[in-house]
Amino acid sequence: MASPADAEGERLQKVLARAGIGSRRACEDLIADERVTVNGVVAELGNRVNPDVDVVEIDGALIPVRPDAVYYLLNKPAGVVTTADDPQGRATVVELLPAEPRVFPVGRLDYETEGLLLLTNDGELTHRLTHPSFGIEKEYLAAVEGNPSRGSLRMLREGVELDDGVTSPAQASMESPGLVKLTIHEGRNRQVRRMCDAIGHPVKRLVRTRIGPVTDRQLKPGHWRELSPEEVRSLAEAVGAAEPDEAKAESSETGDGRA
Ligand code: URA
Repeated sequence: MASPADAEGERLQKVLARAGIGSRRACEDLIADERVTVNGVVAELGNRVNPDVDVVEIDGALIPVRPDAVYYLLNKPAGVVTTADDPQGRATVVELLPAEPRVFPVGRLDYETEGLLLLTNDGELTHRLTHPSFGIEKEYLAAVEGNPSRGSLRMLREGVELDDGVTSPAQASMESPGLVKLTIHEGRNRQVRRMCDAIGHPVKRLVRTRIGPVTDRQLKPGHWRELSPEEVRSLAEAVGAAEPDEAKAESSETGDGRA
C-alpha cells in the first residue's frame, strides 16, 4: 500500500468508486466500517493505493482495480495452442485477440480442446483463478466413446485414480447418450481426458462451457468479447473466499498454473 503521504498513490475511495463499487461517499463508508483491506491490512480513511500492484478486497472478495486491466472471454477453436508464443509456429490463442494491451491466458486448454478461455493482464485474478486452493469450477461437455453407466458416472463424481493421484469430488451427469457433463474444481494436465480414459470411455471431443459464473452459449468458435464489469466482479467474488496469503504460500510450492 502506498503510504498516506505518498503523492504517487491514489485515494482508496476514488479507486473503489472507479471500480464501480459505488459513489466516493459510499466507498468512504465501506472503509470507515473496516470492510476494505489493502494487501490484507484493514484500510483506513485517507489511505492511498497503487492500483497496479496493491490487492484491494471488500469483505474478503477481490476487487479488480487496475484502470488498464482488460478481461476477454474467447471461444477457443480446436487446433490452437494456449500460449502466447509457440516454438513450433502453430496458431496461438493470443493471435485471436487484440495485440495491445498484451494479455495472457488464464490456465490452459489442450490443443484439441474447444470452448471458453479467459485472457487478461490482471495477474492477481489470474493467480486466484488458476490456483487449486481457490477451487474455481470448470464445466466441460465431453463427447465420449460408448455410453458411461451410472456406476462409471459415480466413479467420476467420487474420484478416479490417475497416475498423479485420485481426483477430487466432481459433478458428472449424462447430457445425452455419449455426452458427459463434467464439472471439476482442479486443473491437472489433460484431466478430463484422463478421467474419461480411466472409466473406459475415451474423449472424442471436449468443450469447456463454463468457468465459475462465466458462460456464453452465443459466442462462436474463434470469437471473443470483453467481460462485463459484473462478470469480472462475480469472478473475483468466486475466488475471494480463500485466504490469499495461505494460497500464495502454497502456490510457490505446488501451483502449476493450469486451470
Ligand atoms: N481437461 C482436459 O483433458 N483438457 C483440457 O483442455 C481441459 C481439461
